[in-house]
Amino acid sequence: MSKIHKDLQCVVLSEEQLAQKVKETAEWLDNKFSNTDAPPLAIGVLKGSVFFFCDVVRAMKTPVQLDFMTVSSYGNASESSGKLKIITDLSSSVAGRDVILIEDIVDSGNTLLQLRDLFLGRGARSFTAVTLFDKPARRTVPIRADFSCQEIGDEFIVGFGLDFAQKYRNLPYVGILKREIYEKK
Ligand code: IMP
Ligand code: MG
Repeated sequence: MSKIHKDLQCVVLSEEQLAQKVKETAEWLDNKFSNTDAPPLAIGVLKGSVFFFCDVVRAMKTPVQLDFMTVSSYGNASESSGKLKIITDLSSSVAGRDVILIEDIVDSGNTLLQLRDLFLGRGARSFTAVTLFDKPARRTVPIRADFSCQEIGDEFIVGFGLDFAQKYRNLPYVGILKREIYEKK
């Protein structure tokens, strides 16, 4: 790989490793939904999961329908504030559908828990969550994704969709942001 971004401490997943994680996730989902009678609805949470979402659904053999939501719990800080705010809702109904939530990262678990309750409350017949990253040490609510690609410790990571204050999203790899970048403000 060429030189990494100056604000990063190290790379967590390279482009090649990300491609492998995408493949494993798509295979896991294909396996889970191989006998389904109706196409599941794959939901991407913007903006962080956009690249992972696009890569995973394209690698899947199962026919899926796509929808997106924009939610926020963070503002520009690196700590979660708890209550989920829906900025843009889905354009389709989840009632009676198998919902697949494709997430970038599960941190406190607040987003995942509240989205699961929201979709099941709207009548989804099943809820499956896959995530690229999982920070189990930071969990404040009892929930986990059904499939997680990579566990990480209490570090702030950026790239491949993940941001800090809207920066670094289009890096093609994921790396740990240097502490001085997010602790200086
Ligand atoms: P949770 O609701 O606390 O689980 O947080 C979920 C959201 O926080 C993720 O979808 C991300 O947008 C954001 N987040 C948590 N940790 C990180 C990180 O290390 N880098 C970038 N965004 C993060
Ligand atoms: Mg997110």
